[in-house]
Amino acid sequence: MNKAEEFIQSRLQQRAEKGILRILSSKPLLVDFSSNDYLGFARSAELKTISAATLTQITDYKNGATGSRLLNGNHIFTEETEQAIANFHHAEAGLIFNSGYDANIGLISSLAQRGDTIIADELIHASLIDGARLSHANRYTFKHNDLNELEAKLRVSKGNVYILIESIYSMDGDFAPITEISKLCKQYQANLIVDEAHALGIFGSQGSGVVQMLGLEQDIFARIVTFGKALGCHGAIVLGSKNLRNYLINFARSFIYTTAAPIHSITTINSAYQMLIKTDYTKQIEHKIRLYKSLLKDTAIPTIESTSTIQTVLYNNVNDAKLAAQTLQSKGLDVRAILSPTVAKGKERLRICLHLFNSDQEIEMLVNELKKLKYE
Ligand SMILES: Cc1ncc(COP(=O)(O)O)c(C=O)c1O
Repeated sequence: MNKAEEFIQSRLQQRAEKGILRILSSKPLLVDFSSNDYLGFARSAELKTISAATLTQITDYKNGATGSRLLNGNHIFTEETEQAIANFHHAEAGLIFNSGYDANIGLISSLAQRGDTIIADELIHASLIDGARLSHANRYTFKHNDLNELEAKLRVSKGNVYILIESIYSMDGDFAPITEISKLCKQYQANLIVDEAHALGIFGSQGSGVVQMLGLEQDIFARIVTFGKALGCHGAIVLGSKNLRNYLINFARSFIYTTAAPIHSITTINSAYQMLIKTDYTKQIEHKIRLYKSLLKDTAIPTIESTSTIQTVLYNNVNDAKLAAQTLQSKGLDVRAILSPTVAKGKERLRICLHLFNSDQEIEMLVNELKKLKYE
């Protein structure tokens, strides 16, 4: 075995010994309490119908985009969709990327220059972290949602300053104090970047997100809205000024050096937004969240306070979290354990996602099974 193969094998073995080896699996059909398909759009027959009808209006339909947006891959429908989404979110402009990961690495790495400062909440998504790593800026983190620590870092920051937060945190499900952070950003002339991946469809009028729910559209430098969660599609948009859009078209490498999304993907995204505009799902999803929380009330089950679709059950080690997930799966409930290093060591957990299509009885069954599990 050559040295590279030896290296690979030893890294995998180390993970296996710790019980944290990641493997791909396709599970049998269980009741979904783990996917990000919060509104059931990924499985929606209505979305398929609207999307198919929209596609028939595209005259020069091709199976693939055939190149980067800057070469052959651009389509007027994509640009119209970008502007329609920007209008929906009360933003001046928007630029679609092939995924949320691409959007975050492209945005952060192209913006922040040597001598600039990035200050990020310690719990931000890996894609934002990787974007910061790819930049040459000075990087700092602050304790989760800790305004004092953020302000201390702001006081000593240099150059253009970018603050990275999520409106709803992907693994904890809690809110960022965006209004307060936004005030600090104004005070210190920092630029606030908010990832709304887990807020779209759930919060704000017509599910437009937390920034709009708080009326902060004008105060946020850039928003990232992803289409792979509540929208049930794939891709993401960066919302901001027209200048920012033009800048990203020129400098964001994950936008420039990749084949554009195929037009059928864009029609699905466009159609999913048509569904958000037609129906406000936020009250219906709120009912599911309230039901789950009310059933869990007065139990000793350790959780992180959350009013979003993302709920947690905390364990302090890998084995207990894995065993809990396996037990629930054996009862027909698709709940997954989230292990370190995705979350901090000792903060392993079940990540329970609530959906519009989860019946009240399924949620009751889940909580009954959770009550039977062992907690320290
Ligand atoms: C907060 C957050 N941002 C960005 C992403 C990446 O989005 P995508 O899955 O579209 O690459 C995710 C999803 O994993 C996420 O949870």
